[in-house]
Amino acid sequence: MRAARNNLLIDAKLSGAVRVVFGLAFLVALSISTAAQLAPMPAGVQQNQLPATLQNVGIEQRLNDQIPLDVHFRDEDGQDVELGRYFGRRPLVLTLVYYQCPMLCTQILNGVERSIKVLSFGLGTDFEIVSVSINPRETPQLASEKKVQYLRSYNHAGAEAGWHFLTGTQESIERLAAAVGYKYAYDPKTDLYAHASGIVVLTPGGRISRYFYGIEYPPRDLRLGLVEASQNKIGTPVDKVLLYCFHYDPSTGKYSLLVLNLVRLGGILTIIGVVLMLIIINRKRKKEMERQINIEGWQLALLPLFPEQASSHAGAVDALLYFLLGITTLITILIFFLIIYYMIKYRRRRDDEIGRPVVPIFQLEVAWIAIPFVITMVIFAWGAKLYFDASEPPSNSLEVYVVGKQWMWKIQHIGGQREINELHVPVGRDIKLTMTTEDVIHSFFIPAFRIKADAVPGRFSTTWFRATKAGQYHLFCAEYCGTNHSGMIGWVYVMEPSEYEAWLSGGPTEGSLASNGQKLFQQLGCSTCHLATGQGRGPRLIGIYGKPVTLNDGTTVTADDNYIRESILDPKAKVVAGFQPIMPTFRGIISEEQLLQLTAYIKSLGSEESQAGGGGVAPAPGQVPIR
Ligand code: CUA
Repeated sequence: MRAARNNLLIDAKLSGAVRVVFGLAFLVALSISTAAQLAPMPAGVQQNQLPATLQNVGIEQRLNDQIPLDVHFRDEDGQDVELGRYFGRRPLVLTLVYYQCPMLCTQILNGVERSIKVLSFGLGTDFEIVSVSINPRETPQLASEKKVQYLRSYNHAGAEAGWHFLTGTQESIERLAAAVGYKYAYDPKTDLYAHASGIVVLTPGGRISRYFYGIEYPPRDLRLGLVEASQNKIGTPVDKVLLYCFHYDPSTGKYSLLVLNLVRLGGILTIIGVVLMLIIINRKRKKEMERQINIEGWQLALLPLFPEQASSHAGAVDALLYFLLGITTLITILIFFLIIYYMIKYRRRRDDEIGRPVVPIFQLEVAWIAIPFVITMVIFAWGAKLYFDASEPPSNSLEVYVVGKQWMWKIQHIGGQREINELHVPVGRDIKLTMTTEDVIHSFFIPAFRIKADAVPGRFSTTWFRATKAGQYHLFCAEYCGTNHSGMIGWVYVMEPSEYEAWLSGGPTEGSLASNGQKLFQQLGCSTCHLATGQGRGPRLIGIYGKPVTLNDGTTVTADDNYIRESILDPKAKVVAGFQPIMPTFRGIISEEQLLQLTAYIKSLGSEESQAGGGGVAPAPGQVPIR
């Protein structure tokens, strides 16, 4: 058994080795053939049936080699010069040509000239050109003529000090040509030289930096080549960015785009853009707040992520938010950690490695269903508790009525004080908001109090708060309600009780809500049916507020704000047991504010009875008793 297993292993190893050998052989063959296809055809060389003279012609790359600087040539004036005198300051372009060449050399020099004409680098200030004749029989006079010809065409002042046309002995030429890998041949039959076409970019120190092939040298490539040869001593920051995206490819002698670097650059730019945007937005926000609330600058430096906590709800709401933030942060970190951990632990170690099947573990499956379930239920229960806390006002709350309208908040106090886009309340007192709207849905939102409740057409909704800090707090509409939704904002002024009393008595009032409601009750003729005796055509209203009412279909409803409202606007919907559905609707006749006044009046009737105890109805002074 064991032996068989070992054999198997050996077999496996053997076959593995065989495969590796074959694979390697295949790879080598492949790379040779692709190299043959991709390798630059040394310029000017044809592969098949080369004439003997051409077989050793071409450019062999010697990137980063040092060229001999002690070689001697003659300059245009016939003076003996050492090649090294042109080096040491700036990058150079070297062209090996011969001046009487009938074809290619002229093309090469023309190509160089075309390219440097477009280049913003100065010939003689940023870089230099050295043209060396490969024909030892050519004279300085010929070189001088060429120089005059090209400088006239280039036509830049000071360029004569930057382009050098040299001639030299066979020995000097051969040394230089060999150093840069330039292979050429002399054909005595035609008295011409066979050579490749291309130019070489050299560093100021005389090292070979770049080769460019052919007779056209794109100015961008030449520019990047010179920048790199100078080791960034010339060129602009733009060149550096370009060099990050374009890389010299020795096999083509061209600069080509590096897509990956381009993508990286795009990513970095995006991140910078987002950060800039955030900074700008935050600054604007700070300035805005400074303008509006006069907060000290140092307080704003703390970056207000959360609004102030100014109500009894705030702490509890924030606690839940912190809990949610904590849970999500922990889970995010856990997931990231696990991704990296498993990436390393379960990485592929060998090329032929195959993954093992996953066996489900029952306990694990139960755990990852149960734990998230428990967490979400905690969130749900916690959130529900906060919701109920915020929607059930304590019984002794001070009532404030809010009517939303495109695009303002109209607020009425029990005492009859009216405000628009402002709400004055005393500190430390429970405030119940009864809200509705005259048109579309609005949402009453005070961030510092952590309350937000919709004002919905056709019904009253309630929320409440107890302000814990005197001050001024922003009030928003938090439901998109039309063009000027963003302008539907205001302020809540939380005042010390004494200040609040002063404010209440200071403002002009037109009577309390309830007394206005009572006037309406008379004007609209409600009092003719809803008699205090209970003998009228409508039910008696004294003491009904908040009490259960039996309807004629046998069901029971509570006579709350919404029931009263419905009974005024849609009287036939829920008729009280024992009465006829004869009341006309007041829809379209009375406004939301008048509805509030009527409701407040009916409410005040309830409290009168309880105050009166068993002593019968005691109408408020000056009130017409309800018959
Ligand atoms: Cu009202 Cu938005």
